[in-house]
This record gives sequence, structure tokens and C-alpha cells, in this order.
Amino acid sequence: MEMTDSNEIILDVTDLHIEFHDHDLPETAVEDFDLMLGKGEIVGIVGESGSGKSMSALAIAGLLNRHAISKTGRIMFQGHDLLTCDRKILRSLQGDEISIIFQEPMTSLNPVKRIGWQVEEPLYLHHPEIKKKERKQKAIDMLRAVGLENAEDVYYMYPHELSGGMRQRVMIAAAMIGNPQILIADEPTTALDVTVQAQIVQLLKKINKERGTSIIFISHDLSLVSQLCERVIVMQKGNIVESGSAAKIFAKPMHNYTKKLIAAIPKIDLD
Ligand SMILES: Nc1ncnc2c1ncn2[C@@H]1O[C@H](COP(=O)(O)OP(=O)(O)OP(=O)(O)O)[C@@H](O)[C@H]1O
Ligand SMILES: [Mg+2]
Repeated sequence: MEMTDSNEIILDVTDLHIEFHDHDLPETAVEDFDLMLGKGEIVGIVGESGSGKSMSALAIAGLLNRHAISKTGRIMFQGHDLLTCDRKILRSLQGDEISIIFQEPMTSLNPVKRIGWQVEEPLYLHHPEIKKKERKQKAIDMLRAVGLENAEDVYYMYPHELSGGMRQRVMIAAAMIGNPQILIADEPTTALDVTVQAQIVQLLKKINKERGTSIIFISHDLSLVSQLCERVIVMQKGNIVESGSAAKIFAKPMHNYTKKLIAAIPKIDLD
């Protein structure tokens, strides 16, 4: 495994198994999922629709808490197993130490709240000791850090006043304001056009480099993943079928499914 900053493992997922019990027969969504994430590392998860990428990500983010879902295995983070730890501990980590962003920021943002409110909310929840004025300053600084130059104006805007790319930047600002150890990005660019997609990937790279944030980047687009990630996990039907360095997988895919994914990449150079 290649690491950027050090060999310190900050997240260790072993034998993760996720099953749905909505119907008569249990349905397996994820099977034997393993992931060791190093500090400052960017790992990609690729796979076709329904392969279990989001379910794995949601489990790591502690967001799979419905009764009809059974989970086994271990998700070790900061000495806690996120599958079994106290809900209070989980809540204290969510959105502060582990953050997640999704494909469509419009559904994650609250349409009737100003951007400033949305970016400040995690601080309000996790760091109530921070005073209002400082919170606002932090939000504006964060908005600027994610590339929104008119941050003071954006602070007072509503989600519908922004473009899709700007909204995703706002989501990233909200996810990053607590300076998390891990940022999970679940298809963060799928709803965006190619140019904006590349900008968001650049932003994630910058965040990783400047803050040392470890990133789990989920996409069905292997080409995009290879631009950002040192290491890739390929999933199919709930299972990891191949994993390793992005360069190696790209040059020499072992699994037929990976070969298919690579063959499906349109021959356009985005760089
Ligand atoms: N509520 C549910 N009940 C039963 N099965 C479900 C439920 N939600 C998801 N699944 C199953 O879990 C599996 C994994 O879904 P998941 O959302 O993780 O896929 P994905 O790889 O993220 O796909 P996509 O690329 O479309 O986002 C799928 O086979 C799906 O059918
Ligand atoms: Mg998904």
C-alpha cells in the first residue's frame, strides 16, 4: 500500500457485511469489505450502480442506522468500532472527524437557510464554545478556501442562487469546517458538467495536500478516480473484486470486470 504522509492507519474496516431485511429474504448489499485508510491518503472506490459503494460509505460515516439493516464486521476509528460504539460517540464524530458529501448538493442543502447557516451548522453542533462572530469568520474563510471568491456575499445567499458547482463547493465547505480526519465524497461530481467536475477534483486534491485530510472518493468513473487517487478499490455486486495502486490497476487490470470498466472510458483526455 502506498501512503503519502506517513504509514499511520486512521481507519481500519474489516469484514464489513451489510444486509437489508426489508423483504422476506435478506438482501446482501456489501460483503467482506476491507479498507485500511492511511493518514493523508486518497482512496477511490469504483463500481457499477448497485455494487455497494454508497452502502459501504454510509456505514463508515455512521449513517446506516435503520432497524432493517444488519451490519457485521468492524470499522475502527480513533479506538472506537463505529458499528458498535455508543451513539453519542458516533454523533460526536459525524460531521466533525468524519464528513460526507453527496452527489446532489441541492438535496443536502436546506433550501430555506442561507449558505452561511449551512456552513456554520457543524461548528454550532460540535463546537458550541465558538462564539457567533468567530463562527461567521470561520465560515467565510472556509467558503473562500473552497474557491468561492465572493465569500462574504455567498454567505448571505440561498442555495437556489448558486450554480451546481458552487453548491458542491458549499457542501465541501460545510464538510471541511470541522477539519475532519476523513472526507467521504460519494459521487460528488456526477451531477456536474465535465469542466466543473475537474475543478471539484482539483479542489479535493488541494484540500488533501494542504490539510492532510484522508479522502474516500466514490465514483463509477474510473478515469476520474485515477486522476485523484493513489489507490483504488473496485467493487462488483457487493464485493471487492480488485484493489491496488491506481496506476497499476489502470495499466494492468487483473479482473475481467475492471477491464470492462477501463474499456468503457471514453477516449477523451481531460487534462
Ligand atoms: N433499502 C434497500 N433495501 C434493499 N436493498 C437495498 C436498499 N438500498 C440499497 N439496497 C441494495 O444495496 C446494494 C448496494 O447499493 P449502493 O447504493 O451501495 O450501490 P452503489 O454502488 O452506491 O450504486 P450507485 O452507483 O447507483 O450509487 C444494491 O444492490 C441495492 O439494491
Ligand atoms: Mg451510490
